[in-house]
Amino acid sequence: MSEHLHTEVFTPPEIEIDTSGGATGQVRFSHSGKETLNSGKPLLEQAEEAGLKPEHGCRMGICFSCTKVKNTGCVRNALTGELSAEEDQEIQLCISVPVGDVDINC
Ligand code: FES
Repeated sequence: MSEHLHTEVFTPPEIEIDTSGGATGQVRFSHSGKETLNSGKPLLEQAEEAGLKPEHGCRMGICFSCTKVKNTGCVRNALTGELSAEEDQEIQLCISVPVGDVDINC
């Protein structure tokens, strides 16, 4: 009996981040009380730059371990371009880029 090894290769998605200086607004991490100017980077990076250590894994929108609740504000999904402006919505910090002021429960 022969055995076949089945392998799969996953390629990380291209995450397009516009850091050209067009970012505006204030990013507030309400659980920790930290606040920072929106740099246009994904919220996971902005949280880390603010000294926070949010739980995360893949950093590419696959594992959902970075999921937090966005209390208010609007974010853009860096993979799909989709905007989320609803209050109290779960978002993935690693692929969510703030569009203006946002308040994250982190
Ligand atoms: S770290 Fe895996 S989805 Fe964000």
